Amino acid sequence: MKQQNSLRIGVFDSGLGGLTIVRAITKLIPNSEIFYIADTANAPYGEKSYEQIREYSLKITKYFVDNYSIDALVVACNTATSASITLLRENYPNLTIVGTEPGVKPALKVTKSKKIGVMATPATLAGQKYQSLVDRLCTDKDIKLFEQACPGLVEQIEAGEVLSNKTLAMLEEWLAPMKEAGVDTIVLGCTHYPIASEAIKRVMKRDLKLIETGEAIARRLITLLGDYIESNGSGDIHIFATGKIDKKAVEQILGKSIKVHRLEYL
Ligand code: DGL
Repeated sequence: MKQQNSLRIGVFDSGLGGLTIVRAITKLIPNSEIFYIADTANAPYGEKSYEQIREYSLKITKYFVDNYSIDALVVACNTATSASITLLRENYPNLTIVGTEPGVKPALKVTKSKKIGVMATPATLAGQKYQSLVDRLCTDKDIKLFEQACPGLVEQIEAGEVLSNKTLAMLEEWLAPMKEAGVDTIVLGCTHYPIASEAIKRVMKRDLKLIETGEAIARRLITLLGDYIESNGSGDIHIFATGKIDKKAVEQILGKSIKVHRLEYL
């Protein structure tokens, strides 16, 4: 599969969100060497066209393959997965590629009220991929989904405004129908949203399960890479940003101090 000894995984997102996936991967596959691109110059992806998102995804994947000979790619973004995973798999048939999709399946397992909220970007909710996921999984007629696009939430998170009055007011409005209906489980269908978990819980004011997907992605990688997981990797994480990024937030999510490199190439 490759020449070097360590297992190299390329991970990307439009910004901080995909680091919630990196955090889970490093817990379950601590030896892996991770290369992470936060494409902040082009964020937010969730309000871009699929054509644009496909172009960013292809460029980033090419960069990882050409410069770091990655063994696996994780599209740590629901929006980019929805727009480009098929194209990436067609272009890189020999690369292990794992995408991110809203955790509707685990939500169905834990809900008691059978009322589930799904928060995601406008592009994810409008996509064919999300619709097929719902059609495939939500066959029980008693299940009620409350889907909510949250335009602007990614920007608030990137700006470090997670608990600001403005963010809380946006959440109040978006979550009101869920609150009223007695939703007991919310799918965080954007990898940025786990960073706003506390704010979401504060607004919902009830016992609530928030579903994120990092661990499921790490487990999927382990299944796909099999024995390869055992190789002695450095466990290093290399972070690149194509534009501005809040370094403190990066360190807070990963739980350690880390260098963030500026990537001019893209
Ligand atoms: N984190 C990305 C996701 O999971 C979207 C962020 C954005 O809109 O840029 O969908």
